[in-house]
Parts: sequence; structure tokens; C-alpha cells
Amino acid sequence: MRADAEELEKWLTEIDQFNVTPGAGTTRAVYTEEFFEARNYVKGVMQSLGLTVREDSVGNLFGEYQGTDADEEPIWTGSHIDTVPNGGRYDGLAGVFAGLEAVKMLKAEGIRPKRTISVNVYAGEEMSRFGICCIGSRALAGRITEEDLKESRDSSGKSIFQILEENGFDLGHFPEKGKVHASLELHIEQNTVLEENEIPVGVVTGICAPTNLTCTVRGVQSHAGGTSMKNRRDAFMAAAEISLALEELARTSTSEYITGTVGQMKLMPGAANVIPGQAEFSIDIRSISGEDKNRLVGDLKSRIDGIAQRRGVEAVLTLLNNDMPYVCDPHIRGILHSEAEKAGIPVMDLISGPYHDSLMLGDITDAGMIFIPCKNGISHDRAEAISMKDLARGTDVLAAALLVLANE
Ligand code: GLV
Ligand code: MN
Ligand code: MN
Repeated sequence: MRADAEELEKWLTEIDQFNVTPGAGTTRAVYTEEFFEARNYVKGVMQSLGLTVREDSVGNLFGEYQGTDADEEPIWTGSHIDTVPNGGRYDGLAGVFAGLEAVKMLKAEGIRPKRTISVNVYAGEEMSRFGICCIGSRALAGRITEEDLKESRDSSGKSIFQILEENGFDLGHFPEKGKVHASLELHIEQNTVLEENEIPVGVVTGICAPTNLTCTVRGVQSHAGGTSMKNRRDAFMAAAEISLALEELARTSTSEYITGTVGQMKLMPGAANVIPGQAEFSIDIRSISGEDKNRLVGDLKSRIDGIAQRRGVEAVLTLLNNDMPYVCDPHIRGILHSEAEKAGIPVMDLISGPYHDSLMLGDITDAGMIFIPCKNGISHDRAEAISMKDLARGTDVLAAALLVLANE
């Protein structure tokens, strides 16, 4: 069984037509017109492969290759098709099409395993539209409530709930927790470990988890020229100092995989000659250790209190999610190593700094991940690039491991 690199490339190229920033990377936020169009494209591929297509009330899509025993819990694979603004073509998408190619390979060999293999497109993995990540897989893991869907809003003020209703999703049937034997997701690495080691396939040992917060700083809006420096209560300068405190805490932490990022900042009223009265910004903290991450959040809170007091501003932190890291299932990792060895494909273990849908799915099943290299480790950017040969090798390992799991 060998994956068809040309078909993978064709799918990945065709789906990129559903993109609102052609020429400037891929922008396809969850639940937008282009997202639903891309989803329909995947549905079409699923149908052409003879899969049973199903969807749920938060927009997850399932393409099932029915196993011989309908009573057995299925195996899940797949990933996401939404992107960050001006992102790449492969983050998430590589895993969706690798899953479809893997099932196509099994079918071509006339292999029908005992368990159903479901190739899934999880809705809204990226947090960029609503501030909360992994909407679909979080729902399947029972980690999101209807209330959360009503409270999580995009920059236009629309809630996830409203948008789903407008698009005809039946929220009377909130997804039930998935009953799954195992989950295996392929993804691009989004770092340079595989590339530096010249290894085409990675076996993920653990997934760092994000804590996401919004910080709102309220100062005093005033005239940029008329307000002397000593009389200012500048919301942005306080926000900048908080951001630098976050950077310092993450940089000086002895925890190896800890990161701290401010990726979004909104200033009010937002004019060059007005001292901002309010700054609202995102805080993203990751680690492979939940304990280290919580400690950093605690330290940041103390720093924020000090900064706010000294600058005479008010700073309020709102927690959006605090996910715990996941140790990938050792049994699945063992299968990945042995199937790769059988196929003569070199693999190595590595940690995922980014979060993935698998982080959520690890709550309800044994989850594993396969990584393939991405050029210079760049991702969440239009420069994201992969080799189709690496993707095909990763898909070979995925198909072989899915088959083992589906016959357990
Ligand atoms: C996923 O895209 C992440 O931000 O880790
Ligand atoms: Mn991403
Ligand atoms: Mn991703």
C-alpha cells in the first residue's frame, strides 16, 4: 500500500480555492461562507470514495468507511479545514486528506476492517475567530456547553450559537460524547525538529495545551498632546508592559516547552492623537506541563496587579480556556513505530508545541498523532510548505496504523 502523492496534492490545491485572501495566504475562518464551501468540497471527496457522510449540530463532518462489525466502536482520523488569517494550506488540511487517502488505499486493496474508520473534519480548531479553540472536538469530548456557544463571540459580536442557527444547524441535538476505540491524527509539525533531523515522519509523544485569556485594561482616554507624561493613565502602555512581563516570565521559565504570546490587541478609541482609554488583548500560554503553566498564569496575575496599581489603571483577566496537556497513548505510539519500521520509513519521537483536536479527543479515547515536516518550521503563515513525498510517507504510516487499530 503506497499513498498517492499526486491525489493528495490535487485535493490540497483544489480546496484552496475556498479562500478569501488568494495571493496572501489562506484565510478560511470557521463557519464562514468559504468554510462551508470547503466543507462541501470535502463532502464531495468523501462521497466519491463511497464513504457514509454524516454531520452534527456544531458542524463536525464524518466520512465513515463502514467496518464489518457495526457493534464495535470506530476509529477516528482527520483534522480541521479552518485556518488562521493569512495562514497556510496544510495546517489541518494535510490530516483530513491523509485520512481520506488512507481509507482510499485500504479500499483499493479490498481491505474492510472490523471497525468503522471515520475520517473527520472537526469544526473550528483555530481559536482566531471566537477566541476558543477546537469547537467541534471540544463538543465531542463533552467540554463545551450550549452556554459557551452563546458566550463565545467573534469581533462583530456574533455568537457561535447564533451563527450555527443562521446556518440551519439543529442545536436541539448537541453532539453526544464520542464513543471511540482510538483516534489517530496526522498533522504538519509546525516546528523544525523533523527537518533538522531529516526524518519524514514524527510520532508525537505529548501535546502542549493552551491557556487562553483576554486581558482588558481600562485607563483614561485623553489628548495625546495636551496630557503631560506624568498625568497619563495610558491603557496601551500598561498593556505593553503586561505583554513584556509575559514574555519575560516565559523566557526565564525553566520549563522547556513553555510559551507566552500576545497575538491580538484592540485599542479604544484607536486614533493616533488619542491616549487609549482601553486596551483589550489576547494572552496565549502553552506548556507540556499543566503545573508549570498554571504557575506562570499565577505569576502573570501578580505582575498584572502590580503594573495596574503603579499605572493607575484597572486590568481584568477573563479565562477562555485552560486545557491540560496530553500524553499520547503509548499503545498507539508503539503501533506507529512498528508499522513505520515494517514500511522502512524512518521515524522519531517528538513533542507538539501547538495544540490539536487530538488534545480534546484524548479525553474520550486513546489518541495518537503523526507529524510530517514543514519547511523551516513555518506555519500560521502563507509561507507554510510541505513535501508531498513526506505527506505520502506519513499517510502510509497512518493507513497501516489505522488498519491495525481497526482490527483490534
Ligand atoms: C493551533 O493552531 C495552535 O494554535 O496551536
Ligand atoms: Mn493552526
Ligand atoms: Mn492545526
